[in-house]
Amino acid sequence: MTTLPIPAPVIEILGLYKDYQTPAGPFPVLKDVNLAIHAGEFVAIMGPSGSGKSTFMNILGCLDRPTSGAYALEGQDVAQMDKDATARLRGQALGFVFQGFNLLPRMSLEDNVALPLVYCDTPKEERRRRARALLAKVGLEQYATTLPNRISGGQQQRVAIARALINTPRLILADEPTGNLDSHTSEEIMELFSALNREGITIVLVTHEPDIALYAHRQVRFLDGRIVHDAPTHESGHVLSTQPEVTC
Ligand SMILES: Nc1ncnc2c1ncn2[C@@H]1O[C@H](COP(=O)(O)OP(=O)(O)O)[C@@H](O)[C@H]1O
Ligand SMILES: [Mg+2]
Repeated sequence: MTTLPIPAPVIEILGLYKDYQTPAGPFPVLKDVNLAIHAGEFVAIMGPSGSGKSTFMNILGCLDRPTSGAYALEGQDVAQMDKDATARLRGQALGFVFQGFNLLPRMSLEDNVALPLVYCDTPKEERRRRARALLAKVGLEQYATTLPNRISGGQQQRVAIARALINTPRLILADEPTGNLDSHTSEEIMELFSALNREGITIVLVTHEPDIALYAHRQVRFLDGRIVHDAPTHESGHVLSTQPEVTC
């Protein structure tokens, strides 16, 4: 009998620390963080403001480096990779979605979506074709030539998600993607993330809203730079944790 090799986690973090250098000296933000995330997972990163969530996401996205500890992305030790290799891996494996949408205001929606392909030598027609297909996927095909300020915040976030998908990433990192949206629009955006996850894309999404975290299958909670909770969503119920103890 042959056994198949167990695939490496998409993300493996071991003993990770991050200090920011400040005039007053090193400021520790992440402290002994350990986490493994496997292909196909949908993880909500939670915790109060200032607990280190964005710092952690920037490290996951190779936008920043840990002070110490190990980070392997798809089995590759990020610390050992040079700038070019990191940029390549980031371009091929990752899609980013931010709270503020980050669309370029003077560019049409299809050009915004196609923007990451400019750095990949993809011919212009091919870029346009793929951008339009992704705009159709997020329900905005009819706005391809429109500027970002002509559509709503929820629609802009859909465009940002389409842009994150243009390189067919295996992992999407989203830092408070519903933070600027009303609750109905937030639900629509979360339905879209759920659909992408069902297609097999691994999703790591920061939120401090318990209702939003319910869309994820696993909840990881930071407090003061440490992971204090890591459990499946059905065991993380925010209602349960705030209920007074029932005695009968
Ligand atoms: N570039 C920086 N230099 C110094 N301190 C920073 C920097 N970025 C964030 N911090 C501090 O690190 C802590 C964690 O910030 P952050 O990761 O943004 O938390 P969260 O996303 O959970 O709100 C906060 O105290 C914040 O002020
Ligand atoms: Mg943050």
